[in-house]
Amino acid sequence: MALLPIIEAPHPTLSKKAREVNPDEFGPALVQLLDDMAETMYDAPGVGLAAPQVDDSRRILVADPSNNDDNAPTLYKMVNPTIISKSAELISYEESCLSVPEFYLNVKRFQEITVEWKDGMGITHREVFSGFPSIVLQHEMDHLEGITLLDKSSKFKRSRYMSKVKKQRKKAKARK
Ligand code: NI
Repeated sequence: MALLPIIEAPHPTLSKKAREVNPDEFGPALVQLLDDMAETMYDAPGVGLAAPQVDDSRRILVADPSNNDDNAPTLYKMVNPTIISKSAELISYEESCLSVPEFYLNVKRFQEITVEWKDGMGITHREVFSGFPSIVLQHEMDHLEGITLLDKSSKFKRSRYMSKVKKQRKKAKARK
């Protein structure tokens, strides 16, 4: 097990469309990566983490949207996830992102989605998600398209955030 470094916006990998995992990539190494991503997510702590956030531009994500309802962890490890159906009904939630620290945005998402994915060994799974788990998975799947909360926000809010980050990075550099 290992903690992976999480990259922050702006970063080219976060803006890039991730590629599908190829059939020959399934197996122990991919299972290990999914475990490392889960450990990294819990350590952050976060409820979801997509591979581009650890600078790996492939269609992989982990999520645990158990959300306090009961204490049982509901860890999902998804490879090549796709939404195969979605509800007409939308819900809105104030989202945050490990790759966009201190940024909060209300985003409209489908209330319910059916997702199909493969596990690390290449076995296909399918499940219906609604409410908070549905929101989390749509957020993580946006990362696979190279989309972060910044892309979903207004131009004004985005440029204000970017100039704050630029200033912080300059300061951090000056301190080194
Ligand atoms: Ni995110």
